[in-house]
Amino acid sequence: MLKGKHIILGITGSIAAFKSAVLCRLLVSAGAEVKVVMTPLAKQFITPLTMATLSQHPILVDFFNPENGEWNSHVKLGEWADLYLIAPATANTMAKMSAGVADNLLLTTYLSARCPVAVAPAMDLDMYAHVATQRNMEQLREDGVHIIEPGSGFLASGLVGKGRMAEPEQIVAAVEHIFSEKKKSLEGKHFLVTAGATIEAIDPVRFISNHSSGKMGYAIAESLAERGAEVTLVSGRTALAAPRNVRRIDVLSAEQMWQECVARFGECDGAVMCAAVADYTPAVVAEHKLKKGDGDMKIELRRTKDIAATLGADKGGRLLVGFAMETECEMEHAEQKLQRKNFDFIVLNSLREAGAGFRGDTNVVTLIDKQGSESLPLMTKREVADRIVDKIENLLTK
Ligand code: C5P
Repeated sequence: MLKGKHIILGITGSIAAFKSAVLCRLLVSAGAEVKVVMTPLAKQFITPLTMATLSQHPILVDFFNPENGEWNSHVKLGEWADLYLIAPATANTMAKMSAGVADNLLLTTYLSARCPVAVAPAMDLDMYAHVATQRNMEQLREDGVHIIEPGSGFLASGLVGKGRMAEPEQIVAAVEHIFSEKKKSLEGKHFLVTAGATIEAIDPVRFISNHSSGKMGYAIAESLAERGAEVTLVSGRTALAAPRNVRRIDVLSAEQMWQECVARFGECDGAVMCAAVADYTPAVVAEHKLKKGDGDMKIELRRTKDIAATLGADKGGRLLVGFAMETECEMEHAEQKLQRKNFDFIVLNSLREAGAGFRGDTNVVTLIDKQGSESLPLMTKREVADRIVDKIENLLTK
């Protein structure tokens, strides 16, 4: 099962690091290719020479090789891996992981890794039981990290209790279990998602925009990625962080969003157009801040390009999902858009419903396709996203 799998073995500064040698040997014997990343302190517990010999690769500790300046790319390492296994994982490293701190190569690799991540905690019983450690582990679990529970027994401190790193054989069994988990339903599919509000500059200081928070589009990107899809999120203005395993491309204007989407749609299996794109943009952007005068002022606006319609016109066999936010004749307008932009289905959210629309964490939507419509009850945006992705999955497997 581990044959040909690429595994990064991360080792942190715990006495349990002596077990990492056996762990590495077991992984390699099972056919995995193992690259070892160590924190600086881990080198005090087990020598790089031991780990390099067992893994058959040089050990990575620093961002670059001080001898020749060669860069140890955590990004490439993160892309290479099928699994990132951190064993032992100290309380300190888990705290930093949960907070997104990136002050060593082991941690930057964690932030770059697109693969599943597993940690095997190792520490003294009181450190393990501490509310802060438990809180950090809970956060990691929520972030999708697999926790390989420590066992109870004799600890290096002389105390007896829970905190002892799982035995190498148990860790290998946990790793095999992670690889055997059901193949994800959208693996091998690539989706483009637009989200957030575009910004149309009037002058270097002012702009035209809208109330979109990006929450709905980000939830869709997250849901797609969790089912194994490769997701490119072209994002306008939002205060949100990119979901895990999603490639985010930041844009400002409708024109920039159009360019990014048109350039990428060809390589995708589908797109979900969730962004609130400006329909009009200032005809000219003033080079300097506009001065106020005594009278009123007019800004001439010109139409922006319709991204969804452009993609819809050249859709081929790809799937295209749109959104509509209407305040009157909702169904009629949404159906017109479905036709005009060549969507496979459209998600109508009505501003008239309580709990729907901008900024909030909930939404009330109706999914409309050529066959008919389905109204969903009030749900969180993440639940709505899952229902939309269910429909995408059904259409792709038809
Ligand atoms: O025509 P309207 O803006 O109401 O259409 C909404 C749908 O079209 C949404 O899916 C939105 O993301 C998309 N759209 C777009 N480019 C535009 C305007 C809207 O992709 N310029």
